[in-house]
Amino acid sequence: MSSAAGGMPDAGGMTAGEETRRGMTAGAGGSRFILERYRELLPVTDATPMVTLGEGGTPLIRSCRLEAELGLEALYFKAEFSNPTGSFKDRGMVLAVAKAAEAGAEAVICASTGNTSASAAAYASRHGLKAIVVVPSGRIAMGKLAQAVAHGAQIVAIDGSFDDALRVVRELAEKHPVALVNSVNPHRIEGQKTGAFEIVDELGAAPDVLCIPVGNAGNITAYWRGFSEYYQMERVGTRPQMWGFQAAGAAPLVSGVPVAHPETIATAIRIGNPATWDGAISARDESEGLIDAVTDEQILEAYRRLAADEGIFCEPASAASLAGLMQQHAAGVDLSGKTAVCIITGHGLKDPDTALQIDADRVESAAESDAVERALGWD
Ligand code: F0G
Repeated sequence: MSSAAGGMPDAGGMTAGEETRRGMTAGAGGSRFILERYRELLPVTDATPMVTLGEGGTPLIRSCRLEAELGLEALYFKAEFSNPTGSFKDRGMVLAVAKAAEAGAEAVICASTGNTSASAAAYASRHGLKAIVVVPSGRIAMGKLAQAVAHGAQIVAIDGSFDDALRVVRELAEKHPVALVNSVNPHRIEGQKTGAFEIVDELGAAPDVLCIPVGNAGNITAYWRGFSEYYQMERVGTRPQMWGFQAAGAAPLVSGVPVAHPETIATAIRIGNPATWDGAISARDESEGLIDAVTDEQILEAYRRLAADEGIFCEPASAASLAGLMQQHAAGVDLSGKTAVCIITGHGLKDPDTALQIDADRVESAAESDAVERALGWD
């Protein structure tokens, strides 16, 4: 690892950020704070406010059951739900909101299926900025809405889809003095590419395959950029095949045409016209990878397996990465000798409604041990 990746904050870092770095956590090997750890590879200047809520440094968890079942050499889950607001969005948002503050913005705006709004609201509050979030009415998971509410964002629920919301905020950001913090903001992609850096730094190599859910297509673009930058700098000798997965009812990158009325239980990726369309196609083609569709049934099966067999509770959209890997295996793709990483993008607690649809092993009982014994079938 380079000195910049593992080192102590330099003098510039101290003066730029000491005041605002309160609450940041540093591991034994140095800071896990991505704006500091990867500073030389990010558009961070001495004027950038180094505000952190503890994003980055997320665990790379080795599979205990599915790895053997899928015939892989190694399978890891990159637990992006360990970011402060419970999703990968914090990697890009920490930079996008800092750059907005650096540029003198007083407000940030975004469209969202939920996670972007939660993250934007959190970082805006930390920077003392106003957050405006435009979301599809009735179609964002409860936990995510709760986050935006708690952080004091101004919420506009529109009668339309995420794609409509993105069109609206792009128009508003043209006309009004607000910083747009969707992934069309280049700082979002820059911050998110650090996920790829962390994987290589931790494994000491690139995986053979990177499985990732695809909605608006910012994250697959960001990961490919991260792997490619490390490759160009000769910090790694190979790059992974990028395997992106969309929900079958919202799979424009698979069909090649926008979907007017996207539909899926995975509301986070219920998107019909991804803003970073070309980035996703480049990632797929340059890596000799694929973008495929997985059904809601396959997503829910992977969601259950992750929780029940691996101890990992993610939101449905996140399970699309594993669902796709399982689908490839079932289709006869030989995974032997390969290392795969699935990006687990968001936390299961964000969407309790979906979790509670699983048949629970639950009975009512009187508050006596003999009654609980009977309920457990121990009598
Ligand atoms: N997984 C989760 C949990 C997400 O929230 C998203 C996107 C994705 C995957 C897909 O990532 O858009 O970069 O391809 N959520 C956005 C939002 C759209 O508004 O929170 P992508």
